[in-house]
Amino acid sequence: MTQEEISKLNASLEGASPQEVLKKVLQKFGDKIALSSSLGAEDQVLTDMLMKINPQARIFTLDTGRLFPETYDLIDRTSRKYKTKIEVFFPEHQKVEKMVNEKGINLFYESVENRKFCCHLRKIEPLQRAFAELDAWICGLRAGQAVTRKDIALVEWDENNGLVKVNPLATWSEEAVWAYIHEHKVPYNVLHDKGFPSIGCQPCTRAIEPGEDVRAGRWWWENPDTKECGLHKR
Ligand code: ADX
Ligand code: SF4
Repeated sequence: MTQEEISKLNASLEGASPQEVLKKVLQKFGDKIALSSSLGAEDQVLTDMLMKINPQARIFTLDTGRLFPETYDLIDRTSRKYKTKIEVFFPEHQKVEKMVNEKGINLFYESVENRKFCCHLRKIEPLQRAFAELDAWICGLRAGQAVTRKDIALVEWDENNGLVKVNPLATWSEEAVWAYIHEHKVPYNVLHDKGFPSIGCQPCTRAIEPGEDVRAGRWWWENPDTKECGLHKR
């Protein structure tokens, strides 16, 4: 898609609900679009909406090998509830073995460089394999989540990955996400009730204190400006 087509699509979707955005992009991209789900609250909302629009729509997740047990449980509960298969992408085992054997099992605490290397092998490389068969991906990003996300649009050209990126919840608040989850009885990660608003890998995610930023528990030892794993480079 050209930048002009993307701008047109964005203009035509101004004020549209996330469901309308999803319907439009499903029509446009067919089986060349998929939801990239971390099983977080936003992704669960999108899963529910997507499955109600088209139960055949594709959903995939990146299993880094370091997820919380509660997240694996949610992959299972979600697949059963919606009678869907969440496609799972794993990292390349030789590369992970080499990294861990050379740099240590918990290398990410040592430096930002190590942390980004681990994210690259465990998330970015598998994501690139997922992209091989896609023209567009759907994400659960919200502008309110982080300083690095305040400018996101509903539909964007993802320059880093060379495909279209759709953020149907771009303008939603955290409250709106939770209102939808409760109203529609959407399955969610039990860690959300234990102080974890944003959930990634277990060693890189902690609970937050009341009043702390929603992403304060992600890579909490790093500066807020570096706290992206590379999935959403801007
Ligand atoms: S991250 O970059 O800090 O890890 P975050 O957890 O906020 O991202 O999730 C933002 C969006 O990225 C999610 O809504 C989802 O679309 C995608 N995403 C993040 N982690 C994964 C994952 N493990 N598998 C698939 N998609 C993911
Ligand atoms: Fe590795 Fe942590 Fe990144 Fe997960 S979040 S891939 S464990 S550095």
